[in-house]
Amino acid sequence: MAVERTLSIIKPDAVEKKKVGAILAMLEEAGFSVLALKRVKLSKEVAEGFYAVHKARPFFGELVQFMTRSPVVVAVLERDDAVAKYRAVMGATDPAKADAGTIRKAFGANVGENAVHGSDSLDNAKIEIAYFFPASEVAPQA
Ligand code: CMP
Repeated sequence: MAVERTLSIIKPDAVEKKKVGAILAMLEEAGFSVLALKRVKLSKEVAEGFYAVHKARPFFGELVQFMTRSPVVVAVLERDDAVAKYRAVMGATDPAKADAGTIRKAFGANVGENAVHGSDSLDNAKIEIAYFFPASEVAPQA
């Protein structure tokens, strides 16, 4: 299985609940290396750009409002099969439908406030990582 990188965002709801450490611990337990990490308050423009693919969705305004209401923690994660493995650890988009033991089951409230974001494909992971981190801010695992 190829070593991949994916982008994780710990969303405002989870940061507000002080679950950053708990979520990072779950990720390290699941075999991910954290290659880059930062806390940032997204501007409306940055959030709209990041979620541009959802622009036509009825929930777009709500999504941008939520993602800009307080800081997020953005991370680059690495392990074999990282995109699929991280999606499995996150759980279903709707926390009510997420499997036991997943991040969204543990910390998500509803489909909007669902604790974490993860890239949905390797191509999007590359785009999303570059959106937040210049190559100089990503420290490869020694
Ligand atoms: P995320 O992985 O960050 O990518 C897009 C986000 O849109 C998704 O997680 C959800 O949190 C959010 N989303 C999806 N459906 C809805 C909805 N019906 N109402 C509000 N937010 C939604």
